[in-house]
Amino acid sequence: MTLQIRPLGPFIGAKVDGIDLREPLTPAQAEAIHDGMDRHAVLVFHDQPVTNEQHLAFTQALGPLENTAKNTLRAAEDFRLPPMFADVSNLDGNNQPFGRDDRKRLFAIGNRLWHSDSSFKAIPAKYSLLRAVRVPSKGGNTEFAHMGAAYEALDNDTRALIEPLICEHSQMFSRDLIGFREFSAEERERFKPVRQRLVRTLARTGRKSLYLSSHAGTILGWQLPEARLLLRDLAEHATQREFVYSHKWRVNDLVMWDNRQAMHRGRPFPVEEARDVRRTTISGDVPTVAQAEEEAAAA
Ligand code: OGA
Ligand code: MN
Repeated sequence: MTLQIRPLGPFIGAKVDGIDLREPLTPAQAEAIHDGMDRHAVLVFHDQPVTNEQHLAFTQALGPLENTAKNTLRAAEDFRLPPMFADVSNLDGNNQPFGRDDRKRLFAIGNRLWHSDSSFKAIPAKYSLLRAVRVPSKGGNTEFAHMGAAYEALDNDTRALIEPLICEHSQMFSRDLIGFREFSAEERERFKPVRQRLVRTLARTGRKSLYLSSHAGTILGWQLPEARLLLRDLAEHATQREFVYSHKWRVNDLVMWDNRQAMHRGRPFPVEEARDVRRTTISGDVPTVAQAEEEAAAA
């Protein structure tokens, strides 16, 4: 079986065939996948009936796991999956959909805003790998926008303006956008903002991308209204349809994306239906602000 990677559109996304994710990954396959991620930012694998253990093994063959335990309001009684999985489903510990007004659900649907996973962590995520176990009868697509293509479509003045900027990211900023504002003292401490540069460079390709996320809430040294307006303008620019791939889920799909070069968002689906999607995450290796400081020192 030889691995084939075919683009799904002009800017973002490709479909991968000729691989069985239940089998151990060979070094050549791993290299082809990293290369495909660099080029397309999103890779789609259909018809992969893997177990949680096989999903984890595939992930670990590509890089170190990120611990996502603190990204959620789920408590022990809601855990359905092995540690190191992010449970992105709408299901509680008894596999029942959360009620419409459940606080854990209302926090979780913040992922329907465009974002990059773990941009609220000092060392943010590299890849996310999301697998569908149950899908709703309608809705529930995941959309992806290419932040390298969006950067390249900016005019020179905007590129120069944003090059040195550093933002603060927190899950409290993204939730604020949808009116979810009640946090306990413990949650406020857990969700303390971290700094990320607004333009980042992908080490392997040298390609620059806009590092946007709805978690971004401030720009250091800027007044808040101007900062929020710039971030909003950039996000509107970056999520124009031409830069977007919309994934319609089938059971046994595994979709993998590069959080350094793509934003994504979930789309709504009927609240009473089950949508069981499970995510592993590969951690990044450096804080984006360290990269900014190194470049400034070298200049
Ligand atoms: C995620 C995410 C959106 C969705 O898994 O990180 O944002 O459509 N998912 O489930
Ligand atoms: Mn996400």
